[in-house]
Parts: sequence; C-alpha cells; structure tokens
Amino acid sequence: MQSQASRIFRDRSKLDESYIPEKLRVRNNEAELLINRYVNRLREGSSSTDITLIYGSIGKVGIGKTMLSKFVGRKLEQITKKIGINFKYVYINVYSAPSLHQILSLVTVQLGLGFSVRGSAAIEALKAITDYLYRKNMNLLVILDEFQSLLMSPRVSDDHLYLLLRVYEEIPPLDGINRISFLLVSQDFRVLSLMRERIPQVESQVGFKLHLRPYTSGELYEILEQRAEEAFHKNAWDPYMLSLIADSYGYSEERGGDGSARKAILTLRMAAEKAEAEGKPRIEESDIRWAISENAAAYIPLSELRGLNTHKLLILLSVADLTMSRGGFITTGLLRDKYVEMCEFYGESPRGNTQFHTYLKELVTSGLIEARLSGKGLRGRTTIIRLAPEIPADKFKEALESILLDRAGPGEGRNW
Ligand SMILES: Nc1ncnc2c1ncn2[C@@H]1O[C@H](COP(=O)(O)OP(=O)(O)O)[C@@H](O)[C@H]1O
Ligand SMILES: [Mg+2]
Repeated sequence: MQSQASRIFRDRSKLDESYIPEKLRVRNNEAELLINRYVNRLREGSSSTDITLIYGSIGKVGIGKTMLSKFVGRKLEQITKKIGINFKYVYINVYSAPSLHQILSLVTVQLGLGFSVRGSAAIEALKAITDYLYRKNMNLLVILDEFQSLLMSPRVSDDHLYLLLRVYEEIPPLDGINRISFLLVSQDFRVLSLMRERIPQVESQVGFKLHLRPYTSGELYEILEQRAEEAFHKNAWDPYMLSLIADSYGYSEERGGDGSARKAILTLRMAAEKAEAEGKPRIEESDIRWAISENAAAYIPLSELRGLNTHKLLILLSVADLTMSRGGFITTGLLRDKYVEMCEFYGESPRGNTQFHTYLKELVTSGLIEARLSGKGLRGRTTIIRLAPEIPADKFKEALESILLDRAGPGEGRNW
C-alpha cells in the first residue's frame, strides 16, 4: 500500500515532547543570560565550582525548565566549538538515577569514558572523571534535572551530595582550574530550604538562581505559533486556532491557569491528529475544542490530592503504578503488597489491614478509584479495583510523587 502524504503534518516530530526548537521565541532572555554567564566563566577558566539553579513555580509543570537547561547545554556546545573551548554537557534526570553511583555512571557513559563505575568507590569514579577532563582540557556542565528528588532519595547521603557538588574540594585540580559546573533544575523554591537543611555549604554556594513562571496566554501563543510553522503545512492552520489553546491554558494572576507549554503543545497535536484522521485539509475549531475538552477530562484534581493523608496518597500511588505496569483491574491483595513496598520507599510504616481497607473505601467514595466484585474465583468473590478511567495513570503518578516528595520533610524517613 502506498502511504499517502499527510495533508496536515509537514513534520510531526516538531510536536514531540523532547523536541527543542533551534531558536527560542519565549524564554530567550533567560537562555541568553545563562549562556553569557557560562561563556564568560569558561573564558576565564574559573577556579571555583559554579552551581546554578533553575526552579519553577509551585504546582506548575510544563513551563520549560527541562527545555531551558538542555537548550543552554546545546547552545554552549555550539558556541564553545566556535571559540575553541573544549566543552560538553551531560543531562541527567536524577529521578531515574537517584544515587551517586547511578549519576556517576551516567556521566562516565555520556563522556565515553572507558571506566566502569560498578564496584569502584564514588571517589575513584570522580577521580577518573576529573582526570579525564584535565587530560582533555575539557569543561563539563552537569545538568541534574528534578534535583529535589535527589535530596529526598533514601539512597543518597549528605556526604555523597557534598562529594558530588563540591568535587574539587575533595579532588583539587592539578592546575587550579575547575572544569565541572552544575546546573540544578528543580520544581520550585522549596528546594532551597531542603538544600539548606541537608547541604548548607552547597546552598550558600549557589551562584545564580533563575525562577521560571508559568506561561501567559501571549507566551503560549508564540510557542504554539513556532511549532505550527514547523510542524504543519502552510494552509493547515490559522492563528485563531492557536489562540483558542493559548487562551485556555495561559496563566494570569486573576485566573490562575496551567501556564503549561506541554499541555498547549499536546492539545495542538491532538487536534491536528483528529483533523488528519478525519481527512480534513486543515485543523478546524471543532478539532481544537474537542482536544481542549479531552484534556480537561484528563485533569488531575491536585488540590483534592493535597488534602489527602500520606497513606491514602501511597495507596493511590500504588494503584497508579500497577495500572501502568499491568493495567485493568487489580486485586486488593496485590495492591496491598505494592502499598507496603511504597511505604518502605517513602520511609512510612504501613497501616494495618483494617485501616488500609477503610482508606480504600474512602478513596472509592471520592471517585478517584472504582471498586467491583470479581467473578467467582478459587476463593469466592473478592474486591477488585481500578483507577477511574478518565484519569491518565502516568500524569496521576507524577502528581502523587511530587506531593509525596514535597511532604517528606527533610530528615524524615531517612535513617541511612
Ligand atoms: N519557551 C519554549 N519554547 C518552545 N517550547 C517550549 C518552551 N517551553 C517549554 N516548551 C516545550 O514544552 C514542553 C514542556 O517543557 P519542559 O521543559 O519539559 O517543562 P518542565 O520541565 O518545566 O516541566 C516541552 O516539549 C518543551 O519543549
Ligand atoms: Mg521537566
């Protein structure tokens, strides 16, 4: 069968979550600020470790934190190449690498170092990295995204954090030049108090802080327009369609609003795909409205979740986790096992069975999860549950994790 060229899409990948435009129309000032700062430091061959922090606004995601950090890393590689400075950046989401070993291992892999971190002490791995940078006269920018989760990880001690972030205190550079800088990316300003608690000497060393706010309608419009120009055929879209999305998600003091570029781009993509599936030559208003309402249904009741006690959150997190790994209905036995596991990870002691079932019932009443009786099995009928169908499990899980992490005050549940 011959595949037919899309009438809507010119380049679908421009709407991918991981795509970062070559030029920024929004947040470009912030990017330039960071880039200029780094370029100056690189030119000087600085002797102190630079720690920069990007943080967002409480409860806001999709506001360009990750994008900005990668954009800066990428641009710096381009600029330094031109001016003859050996520079590389590595990007690590510490959420999926919540230990010093995992982080160092990712650094060595991304640097292409033939050094196996496995089985060696952290200090040796760090030494291998600094030696390599010294030999190659290479400067390294380490981006640690979701940095707050590292401060919460039960597998990272204060010593580890110091070792990593003050590497040159432990391993003084042979020529006095400090070649590693850190760009920490974090959800919101609360990361600062967490740092103050755990690693005060690093906190006081943060040289530059950048607070990113949720996007206004105007900013979202510009972001969407750029994507539309890159992703769609010329006549497949018009500005009004984009403004519908931008107005619906834009943030303002009075109205609140998500201010999320992620949501806005995703909505545009959904609308375009619907129009395409229906064989239309262009995206119509009905497609946009449909996509916005679809996303509204996928809305996650954050304030309701924030009002729940920690153990209800842990139960919901277990449901979300099982929904993602297995899907369908889940037996309460299986859920209980997962809940105990989650308690362990978050340093909580699991509630007894009776309390667990009371919580479960209350959660069913709230409509977040649904319960049903199973068909007759070996041991008679049992209760099975699932996540309410309109809730997207992955986003739900993300939201729960961030609430739980915020809640686990520093020092709590960490006895290593
Ligand atoms: N200023 C911007 N210009 C273009 N695209 C953006 C901009 N800000 C965010 N995006 C896009 O929106 C999505 C979400 O951004 P991201 O950086 O992942 O948000 P956060 O890390 O704050 O949750 C990504 O696909 C990103 O490329
Ligand atoms: Mg991010």
